[in-house]
Amino acid sequence: MQINEVIEKRRSVRHFLPKKVEEEKIAHILKAGILAPSAKNKQPWFIHVVENQAMKNNIATLLEQKEDESIQNTARIIREADVLFVVFEEKNDLNVRMKHQSIGALMENMCLEATELNIGSLWIGHILECEKEIKQLFHEKRKVACALALGYTEKFPSPRPRKALKEMIQIHEEEK
Ligand SMILES: Cc1cc2nc3c(=O)[nH]c(=O)nc-3n(C[C@H](O)[C@H](O)[C@H](O)COP(=O)(O)O)c2cc1C
Repeated sequence: MQINEVIEKRRSVRHFLPKKVEEEKIAHILKAGILAPSAKNKQPWFIHVVENQAMKNNIATLLEQKEDESIQNTARIIREADVLFVVFEEKNDLNVRMKHQSIGALMENMCLEATELNIGSLWIGHILECEKEIKQLFHEKRKVACALALGYTEKFPSPRPRKALKEMIQIHEEEK
Protein backbone atom coordinates (compact mmCIF):
# COMPACT_ATOMS: atom_id res chain seq x y z
CA MET A 1 0.00 0.00 0.00
CA GLN A 2 1.05 3.60 -0.60
CA ILE A 3 1.51 5.68 2.56
CA ASN A 4 -1.63 7.74 1.85
CA GLU A 5 -3.65 4.53 1.51
CA VAL A 6 -2.36 3.28 4.86
CA ILE A 7 -3.18 6.61 6.52
CA GLU A 8 -6.69 6.52 5.07
CA LYS A 9 -7.26 2.87 5.98
CA ARG A 10 -6.17 3.18 9.65
CA ARG A 11 -9.03 3.04 12.13
CA SER A 12 -9.47 2.52 15.84
CA VAL A 13 -10.44 -1.14 15.86
CA ARG A 14 -12.58 -2.26 18.81
CA HIS A 15 -13.45 -5.84 17.85
CA PHE A 16 -10.78 -8.49 17.46
CA LEU A 17 -10.89 -12.05 16.20
CA PRO A 18 -9.46 -14.89 18.33
CA LYS A 19 -6.53 -15.26 15.95
CA LYS A 20 -2.85 -15.04 16.80
CA VAL A 21 -0.81 -12.16 15.42
CA GLU A 22 2.40 -13.65 14.07
CA GLU A 23 5.59 -12.83 16.04
CA GLU A 24 7.12 -11.53 12.81
CA LYS A 25 4.33 -8.96 12.45
CA ILE A 26 4.66 -7.90 16.08
CA ALA A 27 8.37 -7.37 15.45
CA HIS A 28 7.63 -5.26 12.34
CA ILE A 29 5.20 -3.08 14.31
CA LEU A 30 7.73 -2.52 17.11
CA LYS A 31 10.46 -1.74 14.58
CA ALA A 32 8.25 0.85 12.87
CA GLY A 33 7.54 2.37 16.29
CA ILE A 34 11.14 2.84 17.30
CA LEU A 35 11.96 4.42 13.93
CA ALA A 36 9.74 7.36 14.97
CA PRO A 37 11.35 10.75 15.47
CA SER A 38 11.84 11.81 19.08
CA ALA A 39 12.98 15.04 20.71
CA LYS A 40 16.80 15.08 20.87
CA ASN A 41 16.56 11.46 19.69
CA LYS A 42 16.01 10.47 23.32
CA GLN A 43 13.52 7.69 22.40
CA PRO A 44 11.76 8.25 25.72
CA TRP A 45 9.68 5.08 25.77
CA PHE A 46 9.73 1.57 27.17
CA ILE A 47 7.26 -1.02 25.87
CA HIS A 48 5.95 -4.10 27.68
CA VAL A 49 4.69 -6.51 25.02
CA VAL A 50 1.84 -8.42 26.66
CA GLU A 51 0.88 -11.65 24.92
CA ASN A 52 -0.08 -13.35 28.20
CA GLN A 53 -3.89 -13.54 28.51
CA ALA A 54 -3.87 -13.54 32.32
CA MET A 55 -1.95 -10.24 32.32
CA LYS A 56 -4.35 -8.69 29.82
CA ASN A 57 -7.23 -9.88 31.99
CA ASN A 58 -5.64 -8.30 35.08
CA ILE A 59 -5.38 -4.94 33.32
CA ALA A 60 -8.96 -5.25 32.05
CA THR A 61 -10.21 -6.07 35.57
CA LEU A 62 -8.62 -2.88 36.89
CA LEU A 63 -10.39 -0.79 34.24
CA GLU A 64 -13.70 -2.56 34.80
CA GLN A 65 -13.79 -1.19 38.33
CA LYS A 66 -14.29 2.34 36.96
CA GLU A 67 -17.91 3.42 36.64
CA ASP A 68 -17.62 4.70 33.12
CA GLU A 69 -19.07 2.89 30.14
CA SER A 70 -16.31 3.88 27.73
CA ILE A 71 -13.57 2.72 30.16
CA GLN A 72 -15.39 -0.57 30.59
CA ASN A 73 -15.60 -0.93 26.82
CA THR A 74 -11.84 -0.38 26.61
CA ALA A 75 -11.43 -3.14 29.22
CA ARG A 76 -13.43 -5.52 27.01
CA ILE A 77 -11.20 -4.62 24.04
CA ILE A 78 -8.05 -5.31 26.11
CA ARG A 79 -9.36 -8.80 26.93
CA GLU A 80 -10.18 -9.42 23.28
CA ALA A 81 -6.94 -8.11 21.75
CA ASP A 82 -4.31 -10.69 20.89
CA VAL A 83 -1.43 -8.49 21.99
CA LEU A 84 -1.26 -5.40 24.18
CA PHE A 85 1.70 -3.03 24.19
CA VAL A 86 1.84 -1.10 27.45
CA VAL A 87 3.99 1.98 26.90
CA PHE A 88 5.87 3.71 29.72
CA GLU A 89 7.75 7.02 29.73
CA GLU A 90 11.48 6.71 30.09
CA LYS A 91 12.86 8.90 32.87
CA ASN A 92 15.08 11.65 31.45
CA ASP A 93 15.50 15.41 31.36
CA LEU A 94 13.29 16.00 28.31
CA ASN A 95 10.60 18.64 28.52
CA VAL A 96 7.43 16.71 29.34
CA ARG A 97 5.55 18.00 26.29
CA MET A 98 8.43 16.95 24.04
CA LYS A 99 8.34 13.53 25.66
CA HIS A 100 4.61 13.14 25.04
CA GLN A 101 4.93 14.28 21.43
CA SER A 102 7.71 11.75 20.88
CA ILE A 103 5.57 8.93 22.32
CA GLY A 104 2.75 10.11 20.05
CA ALA A 105 5.03 9.64 17.06
CA LEU A 106 5.98 6.13 18.28
CA MET A 107 2.32 5.25 18.64
CA GLU A 108 1.20 6.54 15.26
CA ASN A 109 4.06 4.75 13.49
CA MET A 110 2.95 1.50 15.15
CA CYS A 111 -0.73 2.06 14.26
CA LEU A 112 0.21 2.69 10.63
CA GLU A 113 2.52 -0.32 10.38
CA ALA A 114 -0.20 -2.52 11.90
CA THR A 115 -2.65 -1.22 9.28
CA GLU A 116 -0.15 -1.97 6.51
CA LEU A 117 0.04 -5.55 7.84
CA ASN A 118 -3.78 -5.77 7.98
CA ILE A 119 -3.72 -5.87 11.78
CA GLY A 120 -6.28 -3.79 13.67
CA SER A 121 -5.03 -1.44 16.36
CA LEU A 122 -6.46 0.68 19.16
CA TRP A 123 -4.49 3.45 20.86
CA ILE A 124 -5.54 3.34 24.51
CA GLY A 125 -5.35 6.23 26.94
CA HIS A 126 -7.79 4.80 29.47
CA ILE A 127 -5.07 2.82 31.24
CA LEU A 128 -3.99 6.15 32.77
CA GLU A 129 -7.09 5.80 34.96
CA CYS A 130 -5.34 2.96 36.80
CA GLU A 131 -1.77 4.20 36.60
CA LYS A 132 -0.76 3.23 40.15
CA GLU A 133 -2.07 -0.33 39.82
CA ILE A 134 -0.61 -0.78 36.32
CA LYS A 135 2.83 0.27 37.59
CA GLN A 136 2.54 -2.30 40.37
CA LEU A 137 1.47 -5.02 37.94
CA PHE A 138 4.56 -4.43 35.82
CA HIS A 139 6.90 -3.65 38.76
CA GLU A 140 7.58 -0.34 37.01
CA LYS A 141 8.96 2.93 38.37
CA ARG A 142 8.40 4.67 35.03
CA LYS A 143 5.19 6.65 34.39
CA VAL A 144 2.47 5.03 32.29
CA ALA A 145 2.02 6.66 28.88
CA CYS A 146 -0.61 4.66 26.99
CA ALA A 147 -1.27 1.24 25.47
CA LEU A 148 -1.82 -0.25 22.04
CA ALA A 149 -4.20 -3.16 21.48
CA LEU A 150 -3.51 -5.27 18.40
CA GLY A 151 -5.31 -8.10 16.70
CA TYR A 152 -6.88 -9.42 13.57
CA THR A 153 -10.32 -8.03 12.85
CA GLU A 154 -13.15 -9.02 10.56
CA LYS A 155 -13.26 -5.57 9.04
CA PHE A 156 -11.88 -2.10 9.60
CA PRO A 157 -14.79 0.17 10.70
CA SER A 158 -16.10 3.12 8.68
CA PRO A 159 -14.26 6.39 9.10
CA ARG A 160 -15.11 8.58 12.10
CA PRO A 161 -16.02 12.15 11.20
CA ARG A 162 -13.38 14.86 11.06
CA LYS A 163 -13.78 18.62 11.49
CA ALA A 164 -13.48 20.61 8.28
CA LEU A 165 -9.87 21.50 7.50
CA LYS A 166 -10.72 25.20 7.33
CA GLU A 167 -11.83 25.12 10.99
CA MET A 168 -8.39 23.94 12.05
CA ILE A 169 -5.96 25.97 10.02
CA GLN A 170 -5.10 29.56 9.34
CA ILE A 171 -3.07 30.34 6.24
CA HIS A 172 -0.70 33.31 6.34
CA GLU A 173 -0.28 34.15 2.69
CA GLU A 174 2.70 35.90 1.16
CA GLU A 175 1.91 39.61 0.80
CA LYS A 176 1.24 40.60 -2.79
C1 LIG B 1 -4.19 9.56 22.92
C2 LIG B 1 -5.37 8.69 22.51
C3 LIG B 1 -6.04 7.96 23.49
C4 LIG B 1 -7.10 7.13 23.13
N1 LIG B 1 -7.67 6.34 24.09
C5 LIG B 1 -8.68 5.50 23.75
C6 LIG B 1 -9.21 4.60 24.73
O1 LIG B 1 -8.75 4.51 25.87
N2 LIG B 1 -10.25 3.79 24.35
C7 LIG B 1 -10.77 3.82 23.09
O2 LIG B 1 -11.71 3.07 22.80
N3 LIG B 1 -10.25 4.64 22.12
C8 LIG B 1 -9.21 5.46 22.43
N4 LIG B 1 -8.64 6.27 21.46
C9 LIG B 1 -9.14 6.20 20.07
C10 LIG B 1 -9.94 7.46 19.67
O3 LIG B 1 -11.21 7.40 20.28
C11 LIG B 1 -10.05 7.49 18.13
O4 LIG B 1 -8.75 7.69 17.60
C12 LIG B 1 -10.95 8.61 17.61
O5 LIG B 1 -12.28 8.41 18.02
C13 LIG B 1 -10.93 8.71 16.07
O6 LIG B 1 -11.28 7.48 15.47
P1 LIG B 1 -10.29 6.74 14.45
O7 LIG B 1 -9.03 6.43 15.22
O8 LIG B 1 -10.99 5.47 14.01
O9 LIG B 1 -10.02 7.66 13.30
C14 LIG B 1 -7.57 7.08 21.77
C15 LIG B 1 -6.87 7.82 20.81
C16 LIG B 1 -5.79 8.59 21.15
C17 LIG B 1 -5.02 9.34 20.08
